[in-house]
Amino acid sequence: MQPISRRRALQLGGLGLASIAIGTGGLTWRTLSGNTAAAQQALVEPATLTSTEGLLTVRLEATEGPVRIAGRQASALSYNGGLPGPTLRLRPGDRLRVRLVNRLAQATNLHVHGLHVSPERNGDNPFVTVEPGSTFDYDYQLAHDHPSGMFWYHPHHHGMVADQIFGGLYGAIIVDEPEGEFGPIPITRERILVISDISLNAAGNIRPPSAMARMRGREGDLVLVNGQSAPTLEAKPGERERWRILNACTARYLRVRLDGQRLRLLGIDSGRLAEPRDVEEILLIPGNRADLLVTTAQGTSRLQALPYARGQAMGMGGMGPNDPQADSTSESTTLANLHVAGNKATPLPPVTARTHQPDLRGKLLAARRELTLAMGMGMGGGMSFTIDGKEFAADRVDQTTRIGTIEEWTITNTSPMDHPIHLHIWPMQVIEEGGKPIKQPTWQDVVNVPARSNLKVRILFDDFTGRSVYHCHILDHEDQGMMGVIDVRR
Ligand code: C2O
Ligand code: CU
Repeated sequence: MQPISRRRALQLGGLGLASIAIGTGGLTWRTLSGNTAAAQQALVEPATLTSTEGLLTVRLEATEGPVRIAGRQASALSYNGGLPGPTLRLRPGDRLRVRLVNRLAQATNLHVHGLHVSPERNGDNPFVTVEPGSTFDYDYQLAHDHPSGMFWYHPHHHGMVADQIFGGLYGAIIVDEPEGEFGPIPITRERILVISDISLNAAGNIRPPSAMARMRGREGDLVLVNGQSAPTLEAKPGERERWRILNACTARYLRVRLDGQRLRLLGIDSGRLAEPRDVEEILLIPGNRADLLVTTAQGTSRLQALPYARGQAMGMGGMGPNDPQADSTSESTTLANLHVAGNKATPLPPVTARTHQPDLRGKLLAARRELTLAMGMGMGGGMSFTIDGKEFAADRVDQTTRIGTIEEWTITNTSPMDHPIHLHIWPMQVIEEGGKPIKQPTWQDVVNVPARSNLKVRILFDDFTGRSVYHCHILDHEDQGMMGVIDVRR
């Protein structure tokens, strides 16, 4: 008998054959919800908590229990009972205080991904452990010249990061442009789109990944936008929307398209382009954020994630069409539907050139480093994920650098899979890919190092000293060892 592809199975499911087992996971949530009732829902944004007079104090309770996912009641992890957690809204110069309350059955902690703050003590310190039943008070001070943009928070307790993010622990952070600097970007409205994925069984509980999915990096059956399945967005023609899109997926790469609409990219992560750039498609690797202007045109457009081949784990080449991991990268997914109708909106003033970010090319380097990412057979017979031949050890320092200096890192990937590499605290200017210089280098905090290729970045280690980490943002890889420790000294 021919194996049934998931798309085919879904079609059959729509004809009332919903009990067909799919892949190894059996009956899935997606089969049951069928993307029908849920697809009619209007997009809902997470609650927003905004700073006042330079301060935002929040309590984030990590819990396990009932939560709304794709229009139905499920059981997952969440901050304050919502998936995603609340959006934290700040301005440069603000102080953010977070009381993290751990109501999970396992240890956790908090990382403020992309924020340029101190990695020490109760700052953005990934070495903190918050045991079950205990609390921890984080305190982050943003400088007055802190970059604006979208950032996010999620757990970072080594060994459990993939489970906890996949389970539902993430939320957005927005740092608004300072008043006056360039003036606000004239827009009709802003939307925050937190994209994540999850696998749920028929009872609405999280389906744990297979050993193979952990090697590849797990991808969920459901791709969610703000916890919803293919929600609907409404607009009038000629409006200008600002979309801030976060890829909070544990391993899934998102090639995002919105055909039929004009898209202009303002930047990726905290990187700002000098002028908005017309784009047809954006690649968001795990952890990335896009800051996008959408100028609406009459009609209905699908926000889609197109397939991206990120390679296969070694020796895992035999995945059949029934394998959910193989499927998720070979099909496109509808993330949301945009309906544009009604009277044409009055045109907005043009978007002027924005900020200018430093260019580290041609600057004096304090060091050149080579980092090598590898996947191999580990000692126990399983797969090992290493940087420079070593698995993560919290008490070992892998790179020692000096505050205020510029370094060039060449990151070489010897494995047959892409790895998205994230450095905490200090963003990276990507200057070369596969040995070819990049004409307009961008600033990002997660960069893609393609399979059997390399990437060159420059980093300015400014403002902070202390120990922090860099790692693969396919969080299964990070949990299995693809992470290193950096110590920035005076
Ligand atoms: Cu978003 Cu160290 O991670
Ligand atoms: Cu990886």
